[in-house]
This record gives sequence, C-alpha cells and structure tokens, in this order.
Amino acid sequence: MPNHTFIVNGKKVSVDVEDDVRLLWVLRDVLKIHGPKYGCGIGVCRACTCHLNGKAFNPCVTPVKDILPTDEVTTIEGLAPSVGKAIHPMQQAWLDVDVAQCGYCQPGQIMAAVDVVKTAQRQKRKVTDDDLDQIRNVCRCGTYPRIRQAIRQGEAAMPVLKVTKPKKRKAKKKKPAARKPSKSGAEITGSTE
Ligand code: FES
Ligand code: FES
Repeated sequence: MPNHTFIVNGKKVSVDVEDDVRLLWVLRDVLKIHGPKYGCGIGVCRACTCHLNGKAFNPCVTPVKDILPTDEVTTIEGLAPSVGKAIHPMQQAWLDVDVAQCGYCQPGQIMAAVDVVKTAQRQKRKVTDDDLDQIRNVCRCGTYPRIRQAIRQGEAAMPVLKVTKPKKRKAKKKKPAARKPSKSGAEITGSTE
C-alpha cells in the first residue's frame, strides 16, 4: 500500500493508505484525530473544515495523494498550539458568546472563522459583513447570529498576521507503476464521533 508523509498539527506523520482515500478518513480513522467532523463527504456542509498551509480546505474531498510531504495540515486540535496558547482567541470568543448548541458543526465553523480573519489580515483590512455572508459552513442548529458575533470578537483578540510569501507547492511525481483498484471505501468509514 502506498505510503504518504505530511505534517499534522506540527508533527510529521506517515500513513499507509491507498492514494485515493480522502484525507478526512485518514485523519479520523487512521490518525484518530476526531475534531474534523464528517457531514456530507462531498465538500458542501464544511463540517470537516481544517487548514492546509494556513488556509481553510475540506479534507473530505482531498485525496491523500494530493498532500505533499511539506504540507502542514492543522485541525481544531492544533489551532491553539499554532499560536502557542492553551486556547485560541477565536475559541475563547466562541466560549464567551456561548455559540455552540449541539456542537457538531463548531470545529469547522471555528476553523473557517480563523481563515476569514487571516484572509482579511493578509489584505490589511477588517472582516466585513460580506466576508461573513460568504461563509458556507452549515449549522443545522441555526447558531449563525452568535457565530457572526463571535467572529467579530475573535478578530479583535487575534494577533495580527505577519504577511509572508505563500509556500510553493510542487505536485508529487507520478509513479510509473499501474495502480490496483481501490479497496478503501469498504474498510474506512466516517464515524459520527
Ligand atoms: S464533510 Fe466535508 S464538506 Fe461536508
Ligand atoms: S451547533 Fe448543532 S449543527 Fe451547529
């Protein structure tokens, strides 16, 4: 089985999984990192939102073969350590505003919120109402008004990003050997934990 190496929450990991297994299942079922949630599996609900090299992405639609050895994946578990704190300012804002209801969508909401603030900071501006309108993370409990309030509060508390040049990502070289048909779907499933 192919081996894939990359960085998750600051640690180098190696996994033996078929190339076309989606990263969400690698995180949840192989690496046992359960913060990213499985909702739709097709890039719509955004419950699985994590960061790839500091930007929001959806691992449920990202085959593990597309992740490079130098890529840094951050899940909600790695968010606070990424700023050297026990709790990230956006998570603190979430607690202060008491955003969560059932909580299922909330890791993805917070990861999306941090991305929105960082994107605005890169552009040297504040988060706008339009930015908040563009967030597509679904919350079936309807916590949207509190999410918007918490993002404003979290933005005010977040350190200002140092703008650096984005890392260049080179595509992996294609392996010459023919691939066997994938068996991944039968053995790797998303839990609702
Ligand atoms: S589970 Fe990834 S977008 Fe829905
Ligand atoms: S808090 Fe329940 S789905 Fe968002």
